[in-house]
Amino acid sequence: MLSKKTVTVASSSLWKSLRHVVVLYSLCGLISGYSERHVHDLMSRYPLIDGHNDLALQLRILHNNQLSQIDLHNVSKVATDITRLQAGHVQAQMFAVYVLCGAQEKDAVRLTLEQIDVVRRMCTEYQDFEIVTSSKELRSSEIRNKTACLISVEGGHSIDSSLPALRMFYQLGVRSMALTHNCNTPWAESSSKLYNVYQRHNNSLTHFGKAVVDEMNRLGMIVDLSHTSWGTAWAVLKHSKAPVIFSHSSSYSVCNNSRNVPDRLLHELKKNRGLIMVNLHSNFISCSNEANISHVADHFDYIKKIIGAESVGIGGDFDGAVRFPQGLEDVSKYPALIQELLQRNWTENELANVLRRNFLRVFKEVEKVRDQLKLNKPSEVQIPHWEVQNPCRLVLKRPELRQQSPSSRAQHGPKGQLGLVIVLLILSLFIIQ
Ligand SMILES: *[C@@H]1O[C@H](CO)[C@@H](O)[C@H](O)[C@H]1NC(C)=O
Ligand SMILES: *[C@@H]1O[C@H](CO)[C@@H](O)[C@H](O)[C@H]1NC(C)=O
Ligand SMILES: *[C@@H]1O[C@H](CO)[C@@H](O)[C@H](O)[C@H]1NC(C)=O
Ligand SMILES: *[C@@H]1O[C@H](CO)[C@@H](O)[C@H](O)[C@H]1NC(C)=O
Ligand SMILES: *[C@@H]1O[C@H](CO)[C@@H](O)[C@H](O)[C@H]1NC(C)=O
Ligand SMILES: [Zn+2]
Repeated sequence: MLSKKTVTVASSSLWKSLRHVVVLYSLCGLISGYSERHVHDLMSRYPLIDGHNDLALQLRILHNNQLSQIDLHNVSKVATDITRLQAGHVQAQMFAVYVLCGAQEKDAVRLTLEQIDVVRRMCTEYQDFEIVTSSKELRSSEIRNKTACLISVEGGHSIDSSLPALRMFYQLGVRSMALTHNCNTPWAESSSKLYNVYQRHNNSLTHFGKAVVDEMNRLGMIVDLSHTSWGTAWAVLKHSKAPVIFSHSSSYSVCNNSRNVPDRLLHELKKNRGLIMVNLHSNFISCSNEANISHVADHFDYIKKIIGAESVGIGGDFDGAVRFPQGLEDVSKYPALIQELLQRNWTENELANVLRRNFLRVFKEVEKVRDQLKLNKPSEVQIPHWEVQNPCRLVLKRPELRQQSPSSRAQHGPKGQLGLVIVLLILSLFIIQ
C-alpha cells in the first residue's frame, strides 16, 4: 500500500512537473511565436518609412551606376535590395543622392545630378518601386503595394551655393536636403572636422544659409540636420518655419559621437515638432565597432524618455555606414528591432508612430508651411561672391570683343613692351659708355 501510495504520489508529482514543463514550454512558444507573428502583423499594418539609405552611392562605387549590369531584386556586396526591403517591411525609403565632399567647388552639381538619375532610373525601371514627391503619394503608394522612393540630397555642397540649383533639384523630385555632409559649406557648418574648409568663427549659419532654409521652407523641402554642427542645428531650429529632421543620427547622451544629437537639441527639436530618425551604425550606437539590438533599443528608450515616441523614427544608414549591430545587418532585419521594442513595452501606437506616422506628420506639416508661403516669390538672394571665390566659379560677363588678328595676341602686350623698353634702355646705357 505504502509503496503503491508512494508510487502514486511519485507518479502524480512527476505528472505535475511534466505538466508544468509542458505548460511552461508552450507558454514560452506562445510568447515568442506570438511576438514574432505580432511584429509581422504590426509591420504589415504600419510598414516602415526609413530616413536614410546609401544604396545609390554603392551603385556608383561598385557598378559605375550601370543598372543594366545588376538585378536589384538581389544585389551582392550591399545591404539593400528589393527582396530584403520587402522582407524588412520597408515601404518607403529615403535614398540619399550623396557625392563626396572632395567634389565641393568642382563637379558636385553634375555628380549629384547623376545620382538623382540613378535613383530615378531604379525607381521607375522596377515595378516594385515608385518615386513619391508628396505625403499624399507616399500614403497612396502603400495602397498600391509599392516601395516608395524619396530622394534626399546629402550635403549642401551639392547645390554649389545656388538657390536656383536647389529649386531645380526640387523639380527633379528631391524632397529633403542635409545642409552639410562632413565638410562645411560656405554657409553652414559640419559636425565633422575632416575637411578644413570654410572655417568661420561664431557664424554657423550665415545670412545665405538662412536664405537656403527659407527657400526650402517655401518649396516644401525637408531640412535635414544630420551631419551639421550643433551650432548650425541650433540656428536652423530657431530659424525654420517648418519641422526639421535628423534623418540618421542617434542620442549623444547614450553614445557621445559628434554625429549624435545632445539633449538640449532634442528639446529644441520637440518644440520644432521635428523628428530624429535613429542611425543604426554600430559606432554611433555603442561608440565602438561592436553593438547589438539592446544597444540600439537603449537609444530609442532614451529619446522616448526625453522627448516622447512621437519625435522618433528610424534612419538605418545601410550602405552608407560600414558596421552594423549583430542581428541588424541589412534592411531585412528591421522586424528584430521592433520585436525588441515590443519586449521593452513600447505600445503598438508608439511603434506605429516610429515606423511611419511621425514622418508622415512632419512631411505634411512641411507641405502645409509651403502652402502658407505660396504667395512668396522664388528667392533671388545670392551668396556674396567673395564668400565663394574659387577657380571653377565663373562670374558671367559679356566676353570682350577681340580681333582675331595676330595683333590680338598682344594680350600680354603691355608687359612685353615694358620689357622691351627696359632692354633698350640698358643697351643704350652700354652704348653711351
Ligand atoms: C541571390 O543571388 C545569390 C547568388 O548571386 C544566390 O546565392 C541567392 O540565393 C540569391 N538570393 C535570392 C533571395 O534570390
Ligand atoms: C505586395 O507585394 C508583395 C511583394 O511583391 C507580394 O508578396 C504581396 O503579395 C503583394 N500584396 C498584394 C496585396 O498585392
Ligand atoms: C556670436 O554672435 C552672436 C550674435 O551675432 C553674439 O550674440 C554672441 O555674443 C557671439 N558669441 C561669441 C562667442 O562671439
Ligand atoms: C566620450 O565618453 C568617453 C567615456 O564615456 C570619454 O572617454 C570620451 O572622452 C568622451 N568623448 C567626448 C568627445 O566627449
Ligand atoms: C548586448 O551586449 C551587451 C554587452 O555589450 C550584453 O550585456 C547584452 O546582453 C547584449 N544583448 C543582446 C540582446 O545580445
Ligand atoms: Zn550620412
